[in-house]
Amino acid sequence: MAGRIVVIGSNMIDLVTYARRMPERGETLEAERFQSGFGGKGANQAVAAALLGSEVAMIGRVGDDDFATGTLANFVRHGIDATHVARVPGVASGVAPILVEPGGENRILIAPGANAHLLPEDLLPARGLVEGAALAIFQLEIRTATVLAGLEMARKAGVATLLNPAPAPDGPLPEGMLGLVDHLVLNQSELAILSGLAPDAEIDVIDAANGLLARGVGRVVVTLGARGARLVGPEGVAVIAPVPVTALDTTGAGDAFIGAFAHFLVSGSSLETALAAASRYAALSVTRPGTQSSYADRASFARFSAGAAG
Ligand code: RIB
Repeated sequence: MAGRIVVIGSNMIDLVTYARRMPERGETLEAERFQSGFGGKGANQAVAAALLGSEVAMIGRVGDDDFATGTLANFVRHGIDATHVARVPGVASGVAPILVEPGGENRILIAPGANAHLLPEDLLPARGLVEGAALAIFQLEIRTATVLAGLEMARKAGVATLLNPAPAPDGPLPEGMLGLVDHLVLNQSELAILSGLAPDAEIDVIDAANGLLARGVGRVVVTLGARGARLVGPEGVAVIAPVPVTALDTTGAGDAFIGAFAHFLVSGSSLETALAAASRYAALSVTRPGTQSSYADRASFARFSAGAAG
């Protein structure tokens, strides 16, 4: 039987505006369309895995506003155990204003709100959820100290860990954090930043990933958008082929990839099979608008996969 996934991470309300182009500084520009929806990297990854059929639990914080009510209901609707997603009195829920250009590229601001109130000690009452999981997933939209505490708790219990270091940190990660990570899943600019370079630096992806292995990471998965992904581990390098699609909105595609990867991994797939499926799942998501609203359920993903194979 497939194991449970626990996500210790963020949730946001995404405020997505579709525009012909980005406004210049000081300019007011009329947008084509607006849509709000459920987002936040942690919640997105949890929802993607749940839609594919995994048993998922979420540990996080919401504010004491209407956004919180909607977010909690959204977890319940997807069958996600949100017992340890608590409301923080007097604090706003996390929100993310997002601008999307034609072609699907986006720019995202996050105002973490209640997400920043999940403290390391808040993980103690949820210890059972972490220790009973097959995989614990983390991102960096909550406090780094909480991520570190969760990684330590999972490692101590022998639970596999996945860190998506997004948004990329401003400074170095805490000493020893990377050594607690079994699967580090990141994009090229996050890889550059973790390697001590500028986000847009020209890097040799494989060299940089090997540098992270030397710092204690189990395996590195680098997502490269239209160029697919690379798995770099002690066994060497595997190329995960891209799945060509016409992108409408890339928001949350990285989270779709991680949620699907987690689902297939805990369901018993090999790393490469899980990553190939994750690549297809993320590709399908960019053909649809919105964040979680772009994520396929098991049946429509199966139909897409059958078409992609044919
Ligand atoms: O990765 C996409 C997500 O980043 C959005 O849902 C937004 O909320 C931000 O967390």
